Amino acid sequence: MRIIKVKNYEEMSKKAADIIAAQILLDPGTVLGLATGSTPIGTYDRLVELNKNGDIDFSRVTTINLDEYCDLEPTHEQSYRYFMNKHLLTRVNINLENTHVPNGKARDTDAECRRYDDLIEKAGGIDLQLLGIGHNGHIGFNEPSDEFVPGTHCVKLTESTINANSRFFNSIDEVPKRAITMGIRAIIQAKRALLIASGEDKKEILKKALFGPVTPQVPASILQLHRDLIVVTPLDI
Ligand code: GLP
Repeated sequence: MRIIKVKNYEEMSKKAADIIAAQILLDPGTVLGLATGSTPIGTYDRLVELNKNGDIDFSRVTTINLDEYCDLEPTHEQSYRYFMNKHLLTRVNINLENTHVPNGKARDTDAECRRYDDLIEKAGGIDLQLLGIGHNGHIGFNEPSDEFVPGTHCVKLTESTINANSRFFNSIDEVPKRAITMGIRAIIQAKRALLIASGEDKKEILKKALFGPVTPQVPASILQLHRDLIVVTPLDI
């Protein structure tokens, strides 16, 4: 594991974007695994800047997102498809057909999970997976549980995740209770994983994930076993 200690959120975003940009430069047809949440917004802004400056070209890039809420239309402002389009995908020269987010409105969620795993496999797996971390140690929406779930699956969100994400909704009742998330297999098999975390409220969980026991109770702890994990953070861990 490589930990890149930075001064603040801005520097974290810049460094993370530089790592993603380097990946695109070296492999223009790369498959990026992408994340949502407030943490990667600065990284996406910087990628947009690099694209506008002509430093990186997204025309052959494929993106595969970690997760999506169930029951929200892709046009809903809090859906992860909407988030990705708003913060990155419609701002760069990517072919939107090559951008993937689970379909949270699928009637048959099991079939949707299988479709998503097939899609990841057909893409040849993920080259670089960007990750944030939830306060309870979740990655994507792999919530603390008794076991690591390998494939894409439907999850019941925990109280703490619903509370944390309610800040984006008008009321807590509007927060979806379920989501579809990529499983641990695709994340751990990504050729490189890039974890970003900032804010003092993430310090303890980040420490636990990176240096505590590897346990499904702290899903991000599985990243300790990743062959090429880069952590970029301003936190003193
Ligand atoms: C969300 C997402 C995660 C994200 C996490 C942290 O629920 N499913 O992929 O890493 O929560 O979000 P934030 O960056 O806003 O703290």
